[in-house]
Amino acid sequence: MNILNELTQSVENAFLAAGLADEPIILKASSNPDFGDYQINGVMGAAKKLKKNPRELAAQVAHVLADCPLLAKAEVAGPGFINLTLSTDFIEKNIQAALNDNRQNVGLPEKNQTVVIDYSSPNLAKEMHVGHLRSTIIGDALHRVLRFLGATVMAQNHVGDWGTQFGMLVAYLVEQQKIGNENIALADLEQFYRNAKVRFDEDAAFADTARQYVVKLQSGDDEVLKLWRYFVEISLQHAQNIYTRLNTLLTPENVRGESFYNKDLQPTVDELLQKGIARTDNGTKLVDLPEFPERDGKTPVFIVQKQDGGFLYASTDMACLRFRVNALHANRIAYVVDARQSLHFAALFSVCRKAGWLPENVVAEHIAFGTMLGKDGKPFKTRSGDTVKLADLLDEAVSRAADLVRQKNADLSNEEVAQIANAVGIGAVKYADLCKNRTSDYVFDWDNMLSFDGNTAPYLQYAYTRVASLLRKAGDDISNSVSGSLNIRESAEHRLGVCLLQFEEVLVSVAKSSCPHYLAAYLYQLATLFSHFYEHCPILSADENVKNSRLAIAKLTGKTLKQGLNLLGIEVLEVM
Ligand code: ARG
Repeated sequence: MNILNELTQSVENAFLAAGLADEPIILKASSNPDFGDYQINGVMGAAKKLKKNPRELAAQVAHVLADCPLLAKAEVAGPGFINLTLSTDFIEKNIQAALNDNRQNVGLPEKNQTVVIDYSSPNLAKEMHVGHLRSTIIGDALHRVLRFLGATVMAQNHVGDWGTQFGMLVAYLVEQQKIGNENIALADLEQFYRNAKVRFDEDAAFADTARQYVVKLQSGDDEVLKLWRYFVEISLQHAQNIYTRLNTLLTPENVRGESFYNKDLQPTVDELLQKGIARTDNGTKLVDLPEFPERDGKTPVFIVQKQDGGFLYASTDMACLRFRVNALHANRIAYVVDARQSLHFAALFSVCRKAGWLPENVVAEHIAFGTMLGKDGKPFKTRSGDTVKLADLLDEAVSRAADLVRQKNADLSNEEVAQIANAVGIGAVKYADLCKNRTSDYVFDWDNMLSFDGNTAPYLQYAYTRVASLLRKAGDDISNSVSGSLNIRESAEHRLGVCLLQFEEVLVSVAKSSCPHYLAAYLYQLATLFSHFYEHCPILSADENVKNSRLAIAKLTGKTLKQGLNLLGIEVLEVM
């Protein structure tokens, strides 16, 4: 049930009745309880335009809304705002309905959508590092939310598994006579890669050999392919370990790396040339981008094939986008990639639109995000200035969480500590990222993210265990159904009740904007309102009727926290 949608209909009808059929209504949840539950802000603008008295016009709209069954009252405030308060009856009935439904009465508004989400997508032959964290967890949260709202979601892990780095590796391993040793670990591979890079830069003959291996690889040489497969496999196993530890939905089936598009690259470029969209400049194939601002006084270009015939990141992305439209039948394609690639994606989408590969009814979007910074405000690095490996970061998160858990509760067994620390540590890292507006840079700060106060994963996980423990004390369980009717009296109950019923509209806003922080902010507000309710409304000591009603509200709070955190890829615990 989406209150915002239902209210919108009533308000539209009231606008129609007041002669404002064409005016925007501007309806939103109130940020301050003194202004009711929802607010209509559109009347002032309409009055100005139509040269009418805003308060009178607002009174007219409010008068019609007085009959709306969702509302207890519609009041004109200030210069022409209308504050709406939901009726107790409506809140009670819908809490009941949400409790009797295993999806908390959330609908499937995305059910006709087929969405490709391109996320994580690391370059292989290297260990995953913090640079891969944001794409992986933001993409995964969007995956979960869209799937929950009924969309068919296809995660695509567009790994960098093709290109120069593999040629360098093969050349180096041949040179060092390491071929045939089937026990190479990823850490070795990474060292080899570093050494290979040094050789590549210092020795032109080596660089040539490496390039020849790339050509061999791309033309399907058996020996080279065999090695390449082996490298890819080691890297992917490592990535999958990280995905599992991070509790993401990504599986090996989601991997469709750059190599997959190899055979389509030449035809893609040829088609661009045929259509007159690309041109040849001194052997280089490129597309002019007059629709973009000039750079250094020149029209920017999108290079699709190098002078020597080699292909680029851009060529692969064109072939890939065609595949997503034609073979995967996506009507929305979301690329969860670092903001530094904004220009690349803007150009990619523009060229594909011109070529007719990205039809108007398919949305392509770059879900950009900022950089993870250290406390010094510079990109997050180890003390010695190296990139932080994801595996090490997750180890540290879990070990810091274990210390905290032991401090809080000395009676837990080692096994319990380990289980809780895992959920809290990993949850903290993910939540610290997901609660920020993704477009900004943010400072990675262990103490903040692991705090039990404030907008953090541990705070929300703890709020959930409080509900669970309350229900246990009442001899109840969060999964039991609710008998008896609801009875809302206190303003703390009303406010919590309204917040509970806003779950769907918040999820819809996440789906539309691809901004998981809306869900995080909602869960934080929910936990805060629950705290307030818990302080002001005695539960276990109240009369049977009131007690049951309050337990029901607590139960829906617990379910919503659990479902909401789950949609962010964060586990809850019954005990902490
Ligand atoms: N492998 C790329 C990188 O590490 C990210 C790929 C994103 N997806 C895409 N279709 N370009 O920068």
